[in-house]
Amino acid sequence: MLNLTVPLEDELGDVLEKAMRQSGLSEEGLAQRTGIAPAKILDAIDYRSDLSSAELRQLAAALELNEIGLCALGCGQYPLPEISALPFCVHALRMPHGIGFANAYLLADCGATHGILFDTGPDIGALESVWPDSIKKVDAVFLTHVEGEHSGGLCDAVARFGLPAAYCPTGASVPCGQVMAEGERKRFGLFEVTAFSTPGHASSHNCYLVTAPSAQSGGALLISGDLIFAGSAGGGYYCHRQLATHLRRVLEAVPAQTVIAPGHGPLTTAGNELCYNPFIA
Ligand SMILES: [Fe+2]
Repeated sequence: MLNLTVPLEDELGDVLEKAMRQSGLSEEGLAQRTGIAPAKILDAIDYRSDLSSAELRQLAAALELNEIGLCALGCGQYPLPEISALPFCVHALRMPHGIGFANAYLLADCGATHGILFDTGPDIGALESVWPDSIKKVDAVFLTHVEGEHSGGLCDAVARFGLPAAYCPTGASVPCGQVMAEGERKRFGLFEVTAFSTPGHASSHNCYLVTAPSAQSGGALLISGDLIFAGSAGGGYYCHRQLATHLRRVLEAVPAQTVIAPGHGPLTTAGNELCYNPFIA
């Protein structure tokens, strides 16, 4: 089974910044609560962390973060799990966008020439540049959320593969979209796809749980979009509270060994993130 040998999406500074936004604390407010100098907190946010383990623990307590996960991030040792075999092939399509990368995922029965696609990257050209030669046809396209780096190629991909529409979260404004609401299920060949409605990063956001009910063995895959990253979470640009609620809800709803395929960064598992994700205190 593959894993993306790619860096985490977020470093310590990103996590601290998101957590401060979520809690409404400025660096002065956080400094007052922890006794850590504001300049030292700002340095950590600017990727020049000089924080000791004791200070990281203080910050975790003040920001209600997972202490083990935050300390692991602080020393560059965030644990990533072994990714076990799935009953289908996962093509992680990693596309450059801005200063980072966005992931789309193409799932196929191993050896098949068709599959199902989750997110479409910044544009159809970017998608084509990472497309596997073996896959000639797409049976369905699913969108986690409308954001240039994930949905830029959406309607072009729908047209390219002759599909009637892409499955989208409730409320998404997409001309080529069809809503797939919380709990809805779709079957495409080997695959069963179940939607979780998870607003927070965006007002309209879905995660998708993918299983292969007819397979003799193997687990499930959760396409998590910008809700869950290995070692972090998406920014709560729509609603921090809803994002935090859905983060825990989804991680607890799926089996611990479920592989998580995020919109950015490497694969992880639900069990790993329940133990270590800084945003799961
Ligand atoms: Fe994103």
